[in-house]
Amino acid sequence: MLPGTTPRRILVVGGGGRENALGWALARCSGVEQVWVAPGNGGTQALTGCQQLPIAEHDQAALLNAAREHQIELVVVGPEAPLAAGLADSLRQAGVAVFGPGAAGAQLEASKQWAKALMVEAGIPTARHWTASSLEDALAQVEAVGQPLVVKADGLAAGKGVTVASSIAETRAALEEVFSGRFGAAGASVVLEEILEGPEVSVFALCDGQRMVLLPPAQDHKRIGEGDTGPNTGGMGAYAPAPLLDQAGLEQVRQQVLEPTLAALQALGIDYRGVIYAGLMLTASGPSVIEFNCRFGDPECETLMPLMGPELAAVLLACAQGRLDQAPALTIHPGCSACVIAAAAGYPLSARLGDAIRIDLSPDDQAGQGSLQLFHAGSQRDGSGACLSAGGRVLAMVAQADDFDAAFAQAYAGLAQVHFDGMTVRRDIGHQVRNR
Ligand code: AMP
Ligand code: GLY
Repeated sequence: MLPGTTPRRILVVGGGGRENALGWALARCSGVEQVWVAPGNGGTQALTGCQQLPIAEHDQAALLNAAREHQIELVVVGPEAPLAAGLADSLRQAGVAVFGPGAAGAQLEASKQWAKALMVEAGIPTARHWTASSLEDALAQVEAVGQPLVVKADGLAAGKGVTVASSIAETRAALEEVFSGRFGAAGASVVLEEILEGPEVSVFALCDGQRMVLLPPAQDHKRIGEGDTGPNTGGMGAYAPAPLLDQAGLEQVRQQVLEPTLAALQALGIDYRGVIYAGLMLTASGPSVIEFNCRFGDPECETLMPLMGPELAAVLLACAQGRLDQAPALTIHPGCSACVIAAAAGYPLSARLGDAIRIDLSPDDQAGQGSLQLFHAGSQRDGSGACLSAGGRVLAMVAQADDFDAAFAQAYAGLAQVHFDGMTVRRDIGHQVRNR
């Protein structure tokens, strides 16, 4: 393939709303002929240009075979688990271009201790922290610090390994839970952090190992309840661009956080080709990194993809090939994008599965042909083709308009066309930017 070209055949790995959004956005790019999504979900086939492949995200051998069989020119890996397990490394060894870091780079997300050490070394603003690998040691550190702390299981705990304690007793209880084995290997050690305050914003850098392109900032809504109350979830909705960070603020994040992170990875010999997701808290003294992830955020990705120009596929390929300097500039549509999640009954504690989903949207809207997109997340088809809920976050409804009021009105109107028992929707997504 000539440099500067668009990949004609793309494989997206993963089965959530994020991967359907990636597949949909890539299929719209000029020059792309077909996108496969493995394993995809109950909504993948309905998306224009996307085809579902029944291969699990952890099945490296089958994914490599599929890449060969379909003459895939770019693989985009959605979730963190296959990245941490080295999927990108094995595909690259076989000569396949991959957007997504290898296992070494994925430690940015897979080990909080490793990420913290990198941030301290590179002088990146982040909360003060302490590490411990036994309960006894951790309790002694809490005693010494003498204030409530954030407790984070070191490894991947599917977003459930963090407690922001409101008292020292709660800090101790959270530590006992982590060391009780509840998070398996992810809880073999902990990071304790000072508690920071401020609004949170997600920034994504598309990296080619040395260079990066930033996407507009997005704001997630992590809590299950309206008014940002109740337990943390994977994210109940999002909007972009988040006015919390203006152009100057984004530039500050590039210079103080993202460029030093990529340089620190390079200094470790890590050729990071994929997304760096900086979860930031905008504190009184400036942006501070709450966490890094090695993938797009979900539902931030569903929110952002409709704003991407037709160069996206060429840009991700250029990242995968380490030549972002030769890629076309990524155009970003100037509108506002709103995303609202429809979750299952009982989410996030214990989501009920298997509820029948009825969708009354027009086929064009289901295919994402206009300014409304329905991305399935936790859904699957049964033998008869009926669509059933199959995860905590079932659907993501996304809409774009000139302002956030109109975008959210359209997303909520779209959700009124979707039904399943126990459907749980936060009505206040985007309250920060809505007037009505
Ligand atoms: P994480 O899994 O690291 O994203 O943490 C989940 C959530 O915990 C974050 O989105 C924050 O709301 C909160 N959190 C994590 N670290 C801190 C911190 N140092 N101070 C305050 N809140 C935090
Ligand atoms: N929306 C937060 C995440 O993807 O981790």
